[in-house]
Amino acid sequence: MRSTVDMTPAATVETPNVTDPSLYLRGIPHGCFAQLRAIDGLAWHPYEDGGFWAVTHHADVRFVSRNPELFSSAIGHTNLWDLEADALEARRSLIDTDAPDHTRLRRLVAGAFTPKNIRLWEETVRAITIDLLDEFVSQGGGDWVDMVAAPLPIQVILTMLGVPVEDADYLVELSNYLVEGTGDAQSIPPDAFGNTTELRLLPFNSPASHALFEYGEGMRQHRQDDLQDDLVSHLVQAQSEDEQMSRSEYRNMFHLLVFAGNETTRTAISHGAMALAASPGEWQRVLDDRSMINSAAEEILRWATPIMHMRRTVTTDTELAGTSIAKGDKVVMWYASANRDETVFEDPFRFDVSRANSDHFAFGGGGPHLCLGAFLARLELTVLLEEMAKRSLCLEQTSEPVRARSNFVHGVLSVGMQPRTSP
Ligand code: HEM
Repeated sequence: MRSTVDMTPAATVETPNVTDPSLYLRGIPHGCFAQLRAIDGLAWHPYEDGGFWAVTHHADVRFVSRNPELFSSAIGHTNLWDLEADALEARRSLIDTDAPDHTRLRRLVAGAFTPKNIRLWEETVRAITIDLLDEFVSQGGGDWVDMVAAPLPIQVILTMLGVPVEDADYLVELSNYLVEGTGDAQSIPPDAFGNTTELRLLPFNSPASHALFEYGEGMRQHRQDDLQDDLVSHLVQAQSEDEQMSRSEYRNMFHLLVFAGNETTRTAISHGAMALAASPGEWQRVLDDRSMINSAAEEILRWATPIMHMRRTVTTDTELAGTSIAKGDKVVMWYASANRDETVFEDPFRFDVSRANSDHFAFGGGGPHLCLGAFLARLELTVLLEEMAKRSLCLEQTSEPVRARSNFVHGVLSVGMQPRTSP
């Protein structure tokens, strides 16, 4: 579907539609993003009753991300669609706030995710990774998402939160339903998991959010009486003793940490496996020179771009990329496009494990909302690559990926892989 609009000179160009979730069943529509990048200035993209300015260049994504006074996360909503005021309040998490609320909430969790504190989790991450890879190899392969990509990050974030690992499968199931909620079709009824809340008041319009809220509430009650050395206890303390966090902020923070802590890294690990299987020569380079593991992990992040966009609302009439934009307008930063910007990345469609430029925007374009879990995700990816290299484990893809029907998460629901000992 194509559309032509007549707003500013830049916007009179015919713009390809990049929001149709079904497009993403075949992968990111990179051809459409290349067309958008070729437009001089910003392109106006219609969406539902309104639309947004499509920000597709690396430099412009950086500018929007790093100027939160001009581009608000709290007004409106950081996903593509608008929410009514009561729904926005009910669903507001860290990601949908501006300073000073953002600063207050981020401070409560930031300490746990610093590089120094994340390094303390290395042995836990390694032990989980070893178990999963050993099982994958002993079974002769199988569904990479089920066997490695999904359980690794969820087991890690649940351990950090203090959630029993036996509940990992249930929380992965909830996460899968949340991803469905980012598309245009949900496979579960509104009253699934005993939900009675109107869907518009739940994150991703999904009854699975109700289940996740309930789960977080159960954890809160347990920890209230029995504080432990885990992230949920830390949040419960902040909520009850210092009143730094309301009950609604707690439940949305718990929801965000579970969702963001597993869905995104799972996606990176899935695309990483597919890229290494498709480019055995690149994996051989890593096997021959392990010092490339860090750059290979960064390239996987650029290549995968697990979160494809975030939206902001313009707070004052301004100009971006030579295009006038008005207070109240929406801008959508397409990380999926910025990470293939040919003016920044040489030969951007080549998967290159030694790429010197690691200035990708998989974790956002910088600024206050830069991904909280970036160091954790990097640790998970590098440990995985190290353990694969130790085993000289090479991957062969045995089935086409089943992709998520979503323009937000570059998700892979399943993909077959089998182990080989040489590329
Ligand atoms: C490969 C893995 C990951 C990717 C690609 C990713 C991507 C992103 C992106 C694009 C943003 C928005 C940045 C912005 O608006 O400027 C974000 C924010 C966030 N991420 Fe991640 N993420 C990943 C892993 C994680 C992990 C493991 C956690 C662990 C809890 C996490 C927690 C968060 C949180 C809490 C925010 C909101 C930060 C804020 O608004 O201040 N992410 N992430």
